[in-house]
Amino acid sequence: MSPHPPSPRAVLDGIPAYVPKPPQPPATGVSHRLFLNENPCPPLPSALAAISRAASRTNLYPGIFPDELADALARKLGVPLSHVVTGPGSVGIYQQIGQAMLAPGDEVVYAWPSFEAFPIVVRMAGAVPVEVPLTGETHDLDAMAAAITPRTTMVLLCEPNNPTGTAVGAAGLKRFLDTVPEHVLVVLDEAYFEFHQGPDAPDGVELHRDRPNLVVLRTFSKAYGLAGLRVGYGVAHPEIAGALRKCAVPCGVSRIAEQAALAALEAEAELLEQVAGIAAERERVREALGGQGWTVPPSGTNFLWLPLGGDSGAVAAELERRGLLVRCFPGTGLRVTVGGPEANDLLIAVLAGLRADR
Ligand SMILES: Cc1ncc(COP(=O)(O)O)c(C=O)c1O
Repeated sequence: MSPHPPSPRAVLDGIPAYVPKPPQPPATGVSHRLFLNENPCPPLPSALAAISRAASRTNLYPGIFPDELADALARKLGVPLSHVVTGPGSVGIYQQIGQAMLAPGDEVVYAWPSFEAFPIVVRMAGAVPVEVPLTGETHDLDAMAAAITPRTTMVLLCEPNNPTGTAVGAAGLKRFLDTVPEHVLVVLDEAYFEFHQGPDAPDGVELHRDRPNLVVLRTFSKAYGLAGLRVGYGVAHPEIAGALRKCAVPCGVSRIAEQAALAALEAEAELLEQVAGIAAERERVREALGGQGWTVPPSGTNFLWLPLGGDSGAVAAELERRGLLVRCFPGTGLRVTVGGPEANDLLIAVLAGLRADR
């Protein structure tokens, strides 16, 4: 008999364990979830109807892959079906990427702070994170390019960036992609794509067409308001897409998620109107906070970043006490989701009070 109990892989020592947070009722009795960049609007009636129809078939497995959804995405995006990958949220596809494309010792370059899943995916594979500090609140693309070495196999890039909301723009991104060696895979995370429109906004799907080393990730969790159903997708050339599919959990996207996503795609015009409303609220809040003297960088997402440095914890605690649950990055800043008008008004009022106290 072995003298040792089974031991998990040593790389897991570098990955923090999930610790459930005990619910703290706010002093006001009402709490607004502004910490996960969720869409404040409930699903559309057509999506709810699709969910209910699909729910009646939950005794059956869904397809190995959600083929109907993949087909609809290929048509919508104008890409061959072989380029479409799906998964249980884009974080599910990140896991597929880690399994399919990373080996122990590979270097992976990404900005920091950026999406919190990055170090987990990299460490889980036994690969080596190479974190490049943001310059101000934005990606330092020159420094990221300079951080690529012969051992680099992957670059992770979130446009616009989570948690700062900032964007590098189409021209800067294109220039950067052109400097990345062809054997290095670039994962371009466009989780907030629909919130970042305009002449300088990049479109990863277009960029991927002549770049076989680019994977673009998008999700139904944000603009499409289906975070609770876990469905995301990626676009990549067939060699990479095929490898990612091999690493997918079979039947990993439920029939309910697939049918809701199809209904959301059908109702896209209505959802994009909703997105425009959230973007307008984002600008209203940013302007109000700027008027109070807070620094709030421009955002191409459904959240705002307050770079409060050492004050972050205290401000987050006061917001929480008043019923606004935000995401605190201790010592760095606060990420605050754009909520409904009531939550946004409360945020503006509480921060105005804190400003007056300073
Ligand atoms: C940059 C980024 N990528 C991916 C995700 C997760 O998306 P999904 O719900 O599709 O897993 C988030 C969620 O906050 C995000 O900010």
